[in-house]
Amino acid sequence: MTPPPLHDPPRLAVFISGRGSNLIALWDAIQRGDLHAEIVLVISNRAEAQGLSWAMHQRIPALPLNPKLYPTGESYCSDLAQHLEHCGVDVICLAGYLRQLPPALVHDYAGRILNIHPALLPKHGGKGMYGLRVHQAVLAASEAETGPSVHLVTEHYDEGPVLAQERVAVMAGDTAEMLAARVLEAEHRLYPKAVGAFLRSL
Ligand code: GRF
Repeated sequence: MTPPPLHDPPRLAVFISGRGSNLIALWDAIQRGDLHAEIVLVISNRAEAQGLSWAMHQRIPALPLNPKLYPTGESYCSDLAQHLEHCGVDVICLAGYLRQLPPALVHDYAGRILNIHPALLPKHGGKGMYGLRVHQAVLAASEAETGPSVHLVTEHYDEGPVLAQERVAVMAGDTAEMLAARVLEAEHRLYPKAVGAFLRSL
């Protein structure tokens, strides 16, 4: 089935679990006029996520939806789908979202879900590879470079086609924390650019 045409500006839902700095980077790019899109919905699986309160302050519709509070996976998925449909969401951007999306949702939005991962995929991705663990793995592998990847989401963790990457040098004496901070700066440049290019390609 051909997906429906995008709204103008395209309508994004951003899924978060914590800080939300990539959400803010997307929003800032929209405010500056660098990204032609609108964030119409923010979803967090954690009610206490900092990014969720930030979104509420900006008056962006923002919802805590915790899959664990639903009696079944199906009821969670259908609630999520209803919210996305109600907000007329064209594209979903995962930004530090630490839950796997329900397969039915990935199917319904196939080719329209993006994620940002803080390493050069296909290296250092997959189940359990999040947060500092990613940067620790980069250091343990003595990589000369690392950096964020933006990729399409499929039902397998971090395995969808890579759309964009930014290379960041690993320097002598780097700790995982130092690397995480340097890669995060690159993420904030890369994600808005990659989302913009992706929307123009649809
Ligand atoms: C980022 O490093 C992102 O690559 C990863 O999770 C982190 C989220 O950070 N998927 P934030 O919540 O956007 O600040």
